[in-house]
Amino acid sequence: MKRLLCTVLIFLAAILSSAQGQSGSDTPPYKNPSLPVEQRVQDLLSRMTLQEKVAMLSGADWMQSVANERLGIPSIKMADGPLGIRSWAGPSSEMSAEFAKTKVATTAFPAGVAMAATWDTELVESEGQAIGQEVKAVGRDMILGPTVNINRTPLWGRNFEGYGEDPYLTSRLGVAYIKGVQGEGVIATVKHFAANNQEFERHRINAIVDQRALHEIYFPAFKAAVEEGGVWSVMSAYNKLNGTYCAENSFLLKDVLQKEWDFKGFVVSDWGSTYSTVGTVNAGMDLEMPGGQPMKDWLKKPKTLAAGNGGGWLVPEKVLPEISAGKISVATIDDNVGRMLRVMFLSGEFDKPHTATGEIDTPEQRAVARKAATESIVLLKNGSDLLPLDPTKIHSLVVIGPNAAVARTGGGGSSLVTPKYSVAPLKGIQDRAGERLQVSYSLGVSMEGEDPSKDTPEAREQLRKEAVNAAAKADAAVIVVGRYAKLESEDFDIKSLDLPAGQDALIEAVAKVNKNTIVVINAGGPVIMSKWIAQVPAILDMWYGGQEGGNAIADVLFGDADPSGKLPVSFVKQWKDSPAYGHYPGKNLQVDYAEGIYVGYRYFDKRKIEPLFPFGYGLSYTKFDYSDLKISPNQTSGGPVEVSLSVRNSGSRPGAEVVELYVHNGHSSVDRPVQELKGFQRIALAAGESKDVHFKLDPSAMAFYSTEKKGWVTEPGQFDVLVGSSSRDIRVKGSFSLNP
Ligand code: BGC
Repeated sequence: MKRLLCTVLIFLAAILSSAQGQSGSDTPPYKNPSLPVEQRVQDLLSRMTLQEKVAMLSGADWMQSVANERLGIPSIKMADGPLGIRSWAGPSSEMSAEFAKTKVATTAFPAGVAMAATWDTELVESEGQAIGQEVKAVGRDMILGPTVNINRTPLWGRNFEGYGEDPYLTSRLGVAYIKGVQGEGVIATVKHFAANNQEFERHRINAIVDQRALHEIYFPAFKAAVEEGGVWSVMSAYNKLNGTYCAENSFLLKDVLQKEWDFKGFVVSDWGSTYSTVGTVNAGMDLEMPGGQPMKDWLKKPKTLAAGNGGGWLVPEKVLPEISAGKISVATIDDNVGRMLRVMFLSGEFDKPHTATGEIDTPEQRAVARKAATESIVLLKNGSDLLPLDPTKIHSLVVIGPNAAVARTGGGGSSLVTPKYSVAPLKGIQDRAGERLQVSYSLGVSMEGEDPSKDTPEAREQLRKEAVNAAAKADAAVIVVGRYAKLESEDFDIKSLDLPAGQDALIEAVAKVNKNTIVVINAGGPVIMSKWIAQVPAILDMWYGGQEGGNAIADVLFGDADPSGKLPVSFVKQWKDSPAYGHYPGKNLQVDYAEGIYVGYRYFDKRKIEPLFPFGYGLSYTKFDYSDLKISPNQTSGGPVEVSLSVRNSGSRPGAEVVELYVHNGHSSVDRPVQELKGFQRIALAAGESKDVHFKLDPSAMAFYSTEKKGWVTEPGQFDVLVGSSSRDIRVKGSFSLNP
């Protein structure tokens, strides 16, 4: 009887436990999606051994973090960005165009600088969303972008990746990108923190930057990414900042990121940028990349060492002994790992793993790429209204140049995407031209370094002659010049602002025989135009336009779209005029940011230097009138100030205008820029249409960073509000005063 009772009890217990299992109550709390994230993080941490935690500090391989099978912790699978998704296998130091050929093909969006030229936050958010969708579709969890480093010098090899020279514009676009990506449950990574503004000696250079320049110029986009974008990951930079490698810089990672900005996500090192164990972990580095065997193999390569990369410092063999020695606390490790787990929970990695479902390069994603490429094009010059091309006058067109028949979609390095297709300018023009316009092609000059047999003076002369002959017979000539991924790239700086070999001479020669010569610049930033600018009536800048660049330039040339891009960087007349001239690339592995806060237009305005084209500049096929500026209240004790105005399209074509708002402070106790961008809005207007534009200026728009007070300060007095079509084309002005 007793035995029977026992058997029945055991049986009942078994039923009960299986029922419990089904109802999920034996599921550990960290696996329960309905519990608060912090509870899940703490629960999971409490179940991990120290060894398991430490194992997560260094990557599993080139592009993923270490998983934990016992507890079901997935790895974070990364993909390079930010201009689309780049293949994730193999060192980023390899020139990715060829390397990636056999790899994943995804949508190539325009370069960051082109996205910035759109001044369109909604569009950048759609780009982020499309990228987020594609990241999931290829089964990854994290995109290594956006890049928000400021264009300090026009020679930086990676200028094309970021959003230009202004911290406010860069902040707005960075936040938009992050929102788009993370809205899809994909981890965005804002990079490279901080003062990563040159490729020359990027692994060894010590950037000396004063606190004011850091807070006013180089930090704002990171701050906005954390505080407004809620970014889940930050990538540290390769360089040293004020004497300490960014990967072990506790000022950057602890004081600023964690304490000042309350960052709750994790920091990932740039690939091969760590040089110590204790210093790096304690400074707030959470994940060292790359890791595993690929890292070991890569670090053995002479090229890697010669470049100055470092790595392999956060592996368990190195971290565990330091914990035993008391140099790293378990609480620190918990914080590091907790940050990664938090992001994994927040992004849904535990609950909704990205299992490679969804599509790549959908019509919607392509449409974003096309819209972005079109909106990014900047009309720099349009003498005698040559553009848009008039079909009643132009019956034959010759398309010339090393960037005409080849789609140069982006610059080189880890951001270069391999698209499924790409449209070269010639193809875009041919497709759009229709039967009534005869389109011919002539190379004119070979791209420097691409085909050595065509790089000789004789070969150049021959090619130039052919182009000149063709141009002499055509009604108009479009010359597409610029750089390409092997001349403008991550890993090295641009050797000169001049166009690559033979391109200036080609433009000069063609302009002599054809008065309707249109130059199209296809590069990541400014080029010197002094030799030919006065001889050509029209100039367009298409940047690196991604896979749809060729269609976009055709849209603008033929007037299907109004050119509405505005420069996110000032164009210099000559390199000597640049703010960083004389303080770049540094000496003895040190570069002094002696220009301080005077970067970009802040410098040209202060020094009264006439740039070739100012920040915010861009022409349109139509005209916009600005009127009725209202500022309310015109006295504030610190509350926001509302600014409104009316903009009218007074031309006869539809168009889009970017309305730019700058603030001038003439009464400060410290030296301040003549004007600073504090608002912008892109508006589309039909011919004759007017729209009211509204801005809100909060106290941060009036503040400067005080090195004395170690914080932001607003001083009472009058602030001028300048609203216009570029930083040097202010159309309406007003003022308000601050009386706290
Ligand atoms: C670049 C990063 C990139 C990483 C991974 C580095 O060389 O600086 O921007 O995300 O490689 O490819």
